[in-house]
Amino acid sequence: MNIDIKLGVASAATQIEGGGFSHTWSDWYEKGHIKDGTNPSRACDHLNRWKEDIDLMAEMGITFYRLSIEWARLEPQEGSYDESAVKWYRRLLEYMKKKGITPLLTLHHFTNPLWFENMGGFAEPANISVYLGFVEYAVRQFGDLTDEYVTINEPNVFAVMGYFNGVFPPGLRSMLTAFRVQSVMAACHIKAYSLIHDLRKKMGYANTKVGFAHHARVFMPKSKWNLWHRLCTCLVSRMFQNALTRACLKGRFIFPLKKYGVIRQGEYADFLGLNYYTRSTVSSLGDGVRENVPINDLGWEIFPEGIAICAGELYKLLKRPIYITENGTCDNNDLFRCRYIYDHLKALVDSGLPVERYYHWCFTDNFEWCEGESARFGLISVDYETQKRTIKKSGQFYSVMIKNKGITSEMFNEYVTPQKYRD
Ligand code: BGC
Repeated sequence: MNIDIKLGVASAATQIEGGGFSHTWSDWYEKGHIKDGTNPSRACDHLNRWKEDIDLMAEMGITFYRLSIEWARLEPQEGSYDESAVKWYRRLLEYMKKKGITPLLTLHHFTNPLWFENMGGFAEPANISVYLGFVEYAVRQFGDLTDEYVTINEPNVFAVMGYFNGVFPPGLRSMLTAFRVQSVMAACHIKAYSLIHDLRKKMGYANTKVGFAHHARVFMPKSKWNLWHRLCTCLVSRMFQNALTRACLKGRFIFPLKKYGVIRQGEYADFLGLNYYTRSTVSSLGDGVRENVPINDLGWEIFPEGIAICAGELYKLLKRPIYITENGTCDNNDLFRCRYIYDHLKALVDSGLPVERYYHWCFTDNFEWCEGESARFGLISVDYETQKRTIKKSGQFYSVMIKNKGITSEMFNEYVTPQKYRD
């Protein structure tokens, strides 16, 4: 199988850097919400090992890397910025450039500085300007080193997990607040989209690309004959993802979302960022997993066709190149990751959609939010005690795939054939 898609890897600051900054996830740890009791202040110690990590990436032939910056680290107090943090990120981006690795920079990936959270975070429409202040600062500091930006990672997951299910910080259970957070984040994305373009133009740079990373699932009724299941499927898809994509991509705010401030309808993305992991089976206003289907080590269904279905839905809304900004799986012993990668890439290649990039989640094992260090998504394994990195079989597969621009039958026989999904 030939693969024309540019293959990269993804990560997020809180999940790899370590270092103990004053943010919502260090606070969530202090409050005892990490299942295995691990502390994000350790993570992969990327703070000190960044060079080794970039070297490893380069050795594997990876030339596209989606990474994020830690807001709490750059702006530890409102309006006061830490120059040493700026220098650290500049050094990282410069080194990536030297190694021929193109960054896609995420400006917000789940974590808020505590000072921002304490003023209401994204549940407070008045804070849109505070987020934009940070975006402006970041683009002024790093705008010469990267052309490509993700404004916000997964506003729907952030809103639902933090404000509806209550499992992410701040641990609220209010559907109305979850919709408000999605609405505020959509406004943030749209305004950041225009701001980043304006700033970069003033700085004299062309080729600016801005989008957001949308988490989408395929929602299926548990029984297609059951009207209640079907109604819930429509409601859940709209509440979880369809209203949000219309708001973020088009500036169209439909129920249950609300427009805060002046936002014109338009086209607010230069690429369609899609994070895809699984399908949800619906029988109530929540999500579920079908019986007798392949699942990963967190119990999520493995449903490769879904990646093309979700990408196709985004493309119907807006004709832009598709970037799979995340796709990967929790496979603690690396027993089926090669097959997972192959099946998802095959679904994309067969779809005929204009998929330009695929960023595998994740480059290394990392701090997986509430699961802590116990859920492993990396192509590279991390021994958290010694911080030793080892390329997994799936990492070797990915590297060979990049070098060959596809998967030969020998590669298929070596890496994919021996692997089976568990169920
Ligand atoms: C998030 C990542 C996370 C991954 C696996 C995505 O929803 O953006 O931060 O690690 O899923 O759970």
